[in-house]
Amino acid sequence: MSYIPAELINRKKRGGRHSPEEIGWIISAFTRGEFKDYQMAAWAMAVWFSGMTDDEISALTMAMLQSGSRFDFSGLKSARVDKHSTGGVGDKTSLIIGPLLAACEVYMPMISGRGLGHTGGTLDKLESIPGFRVNLSREEFESHVARHYFAVMGQTADICPADKKFYALRDVTSTVDSLPLICASIMSKKLAEDLTAQVLDVKFGSGALMKTLDEARRLARALKSIGEKSGLRVTAVITSMNQPLGRFAGNAVEVFECHEILQGRTCVVGGRDLYEPTRELSITLAAHAVLLTGQVRDIHAAREQVIEQLRSGAALRAFERLLQYQGPADISRLPQAKQSQEVRAQKSGFVRSIKTEAMGLALIELGAGRKTSDAQIDPSAGVEMFLHLGDEVKAGNPLCRFFSNDSSAFSAVEKMMRDAIEIGDAPPVADSLIVEVLAD
Ligand code: URA
Repeated sequence: MSYIPAELINRKKRGGRHSPEEIGWIISAFTRGEFKDYQMAAWAMAVWFSGMTDDEISALTMAMLQSGSRFDFSGLKSARVDKHSTGGVGDKTSLIIGPLLAACEVYMPMISGRGLGHTGGTLDKLESIPGFRVNLSREEFESHVARHYFAVMGQTADICPADKKFYALRDVTSTVDSLPLICASIMSKKLAEDLTAQVLDVKFGSGALMKTLDEARRLARALKSIGEKSGLRVTAVITSMNQPLGRFAGNAVEVFECHEILQGRTCVVGGRDLYEPTRELSITLAAHAVLLTGQVRDIHAAREQVIEQLRSGAALRAFERLLQYQGPADISRLPQAKQSQEVRAQKSGFVRSIKTEAMGLALIELGAGRKTSDAQIDPSAGVEMFLHLGDEVKAGNPLCRFFSNDSSAFSAVEKMMRDAIEIGDAPPVADSLIVEVLAD
């Protein structure tokens, strides 16, 4: 059966619905190049304005999944869980959660992405470790997961190719931030991993795709419902991205922070451990993953099990094994930037807000992210946050320090970062990092 593209676009533009067959045809014709890019862009914009029903989102997810092939992990002896975050700045928890789950003997086959827009990507972070390989063959990935519980690779040409092509088009047509399109894009890739359960870190705030808590709740419910319809157990944790997560944002520096946490180290400044947000969020997400396997009776037992892997060094050993089987990679040779500069407060007061997306864009200027999809990144570029929301500052105090091998953008970046950190007379009502959990 074939359809008339303009008729389908027109129907969606006017708020109409599509049948699963129509959606299946749009995706397969687009993947084959018959439904042209300009038609797909118009259809995506129509979806942006008109939305989709739950049934349409499910049909879109399945059509994207079926555009490629799926892993088959059914031969593994226990549950397979992945963690997916909707993205942010300094969001590095995968590098800790993978080893934590491997140490708990929970399988975690993880297909990750590169930095997108102002948000960082797990593949770029891992590749900042000299020798780390993310371009695994399918067989290597399957064998690492089976032997070591945890492996990470990028999306290949045969995993959801429709999503790969569609995402690139959405990126340049201002249609990324559409709830139905985000849901289908994320969940098709997760379903391709052949999981039994999924933990979602759905972020809201100034550095997230979803700017408000209500939008994040809607996205979390929709993602959860699609996963559950396909037989997955899903927990969604809604978390704040109103400031960069933890001490560092960048690539090599985020790996450094995770390695420090896995080694049980702290970084206490002014009575507060700057590693605490990253450690706490990683433990919480990993504990929900363990709970979803059914191995433990409640979230308290799951947390205890996860914390014990950190305390005993078992998670560190799992990370060190990962560096060997996806390497050999040498963490002692993480690249360090040649140039750095501090940003100092121009007045006294309290950190009232942080424009986290603007911080992420400043990181791109430093070379930590890409302006075009084929650009090279500087793995050593990044920022170290000295202060967080609500902290008191005196004029002249350092707020953060940024670094890169290329200082040509330093004066622009200093202004961007200073403008992004708003200092006011009174402390803000700061939201907590972990706001709510939509449990299985
Ligand atoms: N991440 C994805 O994989 N897809 C989206 O659409 C948005 C975030």
